[in-house]
Amino acid sequence: MAVIIDGKKIAQDIRDEVKEQVALLNRQGTEVTLAVVLVGEDPASQVYVRNKEKACEYCGIRSRKILMPESTTQEGLLQVINGLNEDPGVNGILVQLPVPKQINADAVIRAISPLKDVDGFHPQSVGALSIGLPGFLPCTPAGIIQLLHRTGIEISGKECVIVGRSNIVGKPMGMLMLRENATVTIAHSRTKNLAEVCRRADILITAIGQPKFFTADYIKEGAVVIDCGMDRDENGKLCGDVDYSDVFDHTSAITPVPGGVGPMTVAMLMKNCAAAIELQR
Ligand code: GUN
Repeated sequence: MAVIIDGKKIAQDIRDEVKEQVALLNRQGTEVTLAVVLVGEDPASQVYVRNKEKACEYCGIRSRKILMPESTTQEGLLQVINGLNEDPGVNGILVQLPVPKQINADAVIRAISPLKDVDGFHPQSVGALSIGLPGFLPCTPAGIIQLLHRTGIEISGKECVIVGRSNIVGKPMGMLMLRENATVTIAHSRTKNLAEVCRRADILITAIGQPKFFTADYIKEGAVVIDCGMDRDENGKLCGDVDYSDVFDHTSAITPVPGGVGPMTVAMLMKNCAAAIELQR
C-alpha cells in the first residue's frame, strides 16, 4: 500500500515549530516582521497574499502589507523595496509575483536585500544554494525536502528525476536533491523518451503544470512520487501533474493534490522569516 504523504499535517507541524521559535524570540525582545508587497489586483495573488498573512498571524510574525496600484512604475516599486531593505523593523521582504508587465520581475528580485530574501529568489540566494553557503532556500523545493525527511524517505544514493526546469521549482529542487546526495536528472519539454527517463526514478518530482500528465507508464514500481502541479482537470477540479488514481498502486509513497506540496510553500516561508533573524545577526 502506498503511503499518502500528508502535506497538510507536516505544514501544520512546521507552523507550530515556527510559532514556538517566534515566541522564544519575542521573550528575548525580538519581533519578526514580514513585508508583503502586492502590485495590482490579480485575484489569485490576493488569495496567496491573504494566506501568507494568515500564516504570519498564526505564527506570531507581524505582517506589513503594501498594496500598490496596477499602474505602478518599476522605479516606484524599487523605491519601496529600497525603503524596506533599509528598515531595521523589517526582517523579510516578499514581492508577490507576477508583477504587471511594465515592471521587470528580475530587476525586482535583484533589488531585494539577500539578507531579507525570504522567497530565496535573489541571484545571491540561488548562488549560495548551489555552492553550499548559508542563505534562504526557495520555499517549495525546501518544503519537498521536509516532506521526504518527515515521512522517513531516504534520499541519499537514490535516483531522482525532476520534470520541469523553472527557477522557482525545478532548478533549485535539483540543487537541493544533490545536496541530499541523490543522483539527479532534470528533465523538461525537450527531453527525449520522457517516460523511459522517469521510469529510472526512485523519487519522481513533477512540476510541469499539465493536468494528470504522468500515468502509470512513467512510474517505476515502488517509486516515491512528489507532485508540484496545481492544475485543473476537464471538470475544472483541482488536480496535479500526476494521474493519481492511475499511478497510486505502483508507488510506495505519493503526495495528493490538494494537500501535498501546496501547503508546504507558505509553511516554509514562515520558517524562512524566523531564520531571517539569525542571518541578520
Ligand atoms: N507567485 C507564485 N508563487 C510565488 C512565490 O512563491 N513567491 C512569490 N513572491 N510570488 C509567487
